[in-house]
Amino acid sequence: MSFVDEFSEITRRDVPLGQYTWLKVGGPARFLVEPRSVDELEAVIQACLREEISLRVLGGGSNLLVPDEGVDAAVIRIVGEAFGQVSIDGTRVRAGAGALLSHVMSETVAAGLAGMEALVGIPGTVGGAIHGNSGTRHGDIGRLVKSVTVITGKGEKFVRQEDELSFAYRVSSVNELAVIEAEFELTQEDPDEIARRMRKQWIMKKSTQPLSFQSAGCIFKNPRGLSSGALIEQAGLKGARVGQCEVSDRHANFIVTQDNATAAEVRELIETIREKVKEVHGVDLELEIETW
Ligand code: EPU
Repeated sequence: MSFVDEFSEITRRDVPLGQYTWLKVGGPARFLVEPRSVDELEAVIQACLREEISLRVLGGGSNLLVPDEGVDAAVIRIVGEAFGQVSIDGTRVRAGAGALLSHVMSETVAAGLAGMEALVGIPGTVGGAIHGNSGTRHGDIGRLVKSVTVITGKGEKFVRQEDELSFAYRVSSVNELAVIEAEFELTQEDPDEIARRMRKQWIMKKSTQPLSFQSAGCIFKNPRGLSSGALIEQAGLKGARVGQCEVSDRHANFIVTQDNATAAEVRELIETIREKVKEVHGVDLELEIETW
């Protein structure tokens, strides 16, 4: 039986991926697969290996640029009940890779557990956040992680403990095909106090970032000791446009897209920014978003 026949209930062909990304651009996946359990995920990986179909994993799509030509691969979406559970035992929190950060945050804050609130306003899922060590200046997710269950491109599942993990500014050592779940250690604190801190950070974020627009958050990492947003603004690029994409007027490290924007336009704007910032400041900007 072929891969598509075997997994017909959870597989669709030629699915446009733009709808699953926050930039809302990008072409189709040859297959889009939504496994309903970890066992099914393992079986899908084995079948793709057998049929030599390449694999990609899609998290929340909030930090991702998909090319207009799409991807010749089976794209696995880690979503649904099997991957979205959050459970709390004392100060230990277990969350599925598909759980939204906002969901983990509301559960933990309500339970009087501090740590996750530093991530307020970051979209996306636990899996994506761990892979890219998402964070703000109040802290990143990596500092809270105790263990991560991953699955490799060969379908091997294992748990990586704290001493086998490393996290730095927007990078982690978690590079296997997919995260399945993670365990975090938080600290007990008065829920009102955590909520107050979270609200304050949220208000600040809303006032400085274009959160109501289509974007993938910050496009570039901050170079050591510098702010990409400030460098881009000082290079005179706020409001710079290519087609339906624009450097945000509110925060210059955000590219906002309108309907009908293309991935090629986003890429062109990224290149324009890089060249101009290099010319004006002599600084090479490094992408923060993931590109396929
Ligand atoms: N600035 C400008 N012009 C701009 C944007 C910023 O002059 O257009 C200046 C600000 O005035 C400020 C400095 O640059 O003096 C820093 O800006 P901001 O406070 O907005 O923080 P950031 O360094 O640009 C980082 C993260 C954000 C995170 C915020 C708040 C990176 C690349 N960005 O932004 O993360 O939300 O701190 O903690 O590390 C993301 O990773 O996608 C992201 C949005």
